[in-house]
Amino acid sequence: MEHQPLRDQVAVVTGGGGGIGGGISRLFARAGAIVVLNDIDTELAETARAEIVADGGHVIMVVGDIRDRVVVAAVRDAALAAGTGRIDVLVNNVGDYRPNGRFVATTEDDWAALYAMNLEHVFRCTHAVIPTMIEQRSGSIVNVSTVEAFRGIPGNAVYSAFNAGVNAFTKSLAVELGRDGIRVNAIAPDMADTLQTPASAMLRGRDPSLVECWIPVGRFGRPDDYAQVALFLASDQSRYVTGHVVPVDGGTTAASGWYGRPERKGWTNLPDSP
Ligand SMILES: NC(=O)c1ccc[n+]([C@@H]2O[C@H](COP(=O)([O-])OP(=O)(O)OC[C@H]3O[C@@H](n4cnc5c(N)ncnc54)[C@H](O)[C@@H]3O)[C@@H](O)[C@H]2O)c1
Repeated sequence: MEHQPLRDQVAVVTGGGGGIGGGISRLFARAGAIVVLNDIDTELAETARAEIVADGGHVIMVVGDIRDRVVVAAVRDAALAAGTGRIDVLVNNVGDYRPNGRFVATTEDDWAALYAMNLEHVFRCTHAVIPTMIEQRSGSIVNVSTVEAFRGIPGNAVYSAFNAGVNAFTKSLAVELGRDGIRVNAIAPDMADTLQTPASAMLRGRDPSLVECWIPVGRFGRPDDYAQVALFLASDQSRYVTGHVVPVDGGTTAASGWYGRPERKGWTNLPDSP
């Protein structure tokens, strides 16, 4: 039988229908978790639910916008009702870089929208589940931020600032909750081929072999690539790891501006140079 590091654990995944969250909910179910799958998109949630059930997994679906405090409460209540009143894992996955554009052209409404989408619900979901985790003296929280919280990204200053907030929240909360038996970590993705950033949009009709020049491991990330790291952080395998943000980026952070030349003719940090 497949190793099941989350066997019978209740795991909440926000945005668990598609993209990276879809990979996480499917993998966590295979790892034995009772997955409480929240998604705003009924079709994506239902597809993930059906696949998990067909695979012999356990899932409870809570369709709704995680920016809405009523939905957060519904997710928490569903988690408490799903098993034995425990909440073992929370994955705060929802986030989006849009609306983006040059900072000078953004509005206060844009900033508020990015806050709601990238940071506020992380606070709210975490605040909703930690009383249970503190009471049970165990729990693992995995946040999903972005490599753009480490490096500068033009046209996305506010998104990057709120995700740096996710990283700082991860570290501070890990210190605060360590003695309660709760760990808090994050993954920082890059280059995922998802609904939000499809490979076709990143390529924009260019030669797909260019991906080898852009990403050290030579391909875009698949949802399961990120889910595997989230599983490690969620499970007891990482029992002595807390307060860390793990880049899951195929090497882009390490490359930090270096690109392979076509046909493996060395590297350059001046991509337009001959
Ligand atoms: N795609 C990348 O390369 C990349 C890079 C860095 C960081 N990230 C981060 O990873 C996370 C997931 O990104 P993705 O590319 O998988 O996104 P995605 O848009 O492909 O998928 C997001 C999922 O969340 C759901 N969702 C969206 N808004 C929601 C809401 N308000 N309430 C509930 N569910 C909602 C969507 O329906 C979808 O199922 C985000 O936090 C994103 O910022 C992604």
